[in-house]
Amino acid sequence: MTDFGESLLAPAALRPSEYTAALVHALNLEPERVHGVSALEIGSGSGVVLAVLAGLGAAALYGIDVEDDAVLAGSLLLRELGHEARCQIHKGDMWQPVEGRRFDLIAANLPHFPMQDHEVPGRHPTWSAGGPDGRRWLDPFLRGLPGHLEDGGRAVLTHNGFVGLDASREILAGSGLTLRVIESVFVPIGPEKLELMSPAVLEIEEGKSIHRYGPYAFADMHVVEVTADKRAANAR
Ligand SMILES: C[S@@+](CC[C@H](N)C(=O)[O-])C[C@H]1O[C@@H](n2cnc3c(N)ncnc32)[C@H](O)[C@@H]1O
Repeated sequence: MTDFGESLLAPAALRPSEYTAALVHALNLEPERVHGVSALEIGSGSGVVLAVLAGLGAAALYGIDVEDDAVLAGSLLLRELGHEARCQIHKGDMWQPVEGRRFDLIAANLPHFPMQDHEVPGRHPTWSAGGPDGRRWLDPFLRGLPGHLEDGGRAVLTHNGFVGLDASREILAGSGLTLRVIESVFVPIGPEKLELMSPAVLEIEEGKSIHRYGPYAFADMHVVEVTADKRAANAR
């Protein structure tokens, strides 16, 4: 029995999504690359990704989220699973709580749906909205990687097809980091969310990365890995 309330441990607003599931699946593909590493997750939400990393044997874990209930729920989850000695979750904005620190593995499932700050029913306004082009958090995340990855480290993140893999590759170009797709899945996009999508993105992406079947829509979603470009590293 636990001595804390179930609703604090697992608030409905932080329930893992199909994006979380895909990220967790990709991390599970190579458990040997998680064992013994120092890991950071930006936007830790429920804390379940940190719990998965702890279960795969990460040596030290650090989570960051802007929402108070995410910090609490994540901390309770890691305590419930017996991982609290290896894990800290802090309230903060993106890289700010870990300035000057480096990690072997950085995971993220950032808000990067192209829309203004609308609330998706049942979620916090900070859950999905990535601004008109979806890149409000994705771009600073990618720009921060060179300063926060250990030598030989990697980042693993979810990446909507409709925000553009090439735009992300462009940001990384010149920093010695390269992006590769680990796996791709379809994610359903409900009508209420599609309504909120920036019209400019919808117009370009419909039929490309957004697939409609009558009232139902799916979108391409990738789990990607960012690592040091071996050629650049060898040339140094
Ligand atoms: C799509 S959810 C992912 C949650 C969790 N990682 C998962 O996969 O279930 C995005 C998370 O990022 C958090 N977030 C939003 N803006 C943030 C920011 N500027 N800095 C840190 N976390 C942020 C949200 O509170 C939310 O928990």
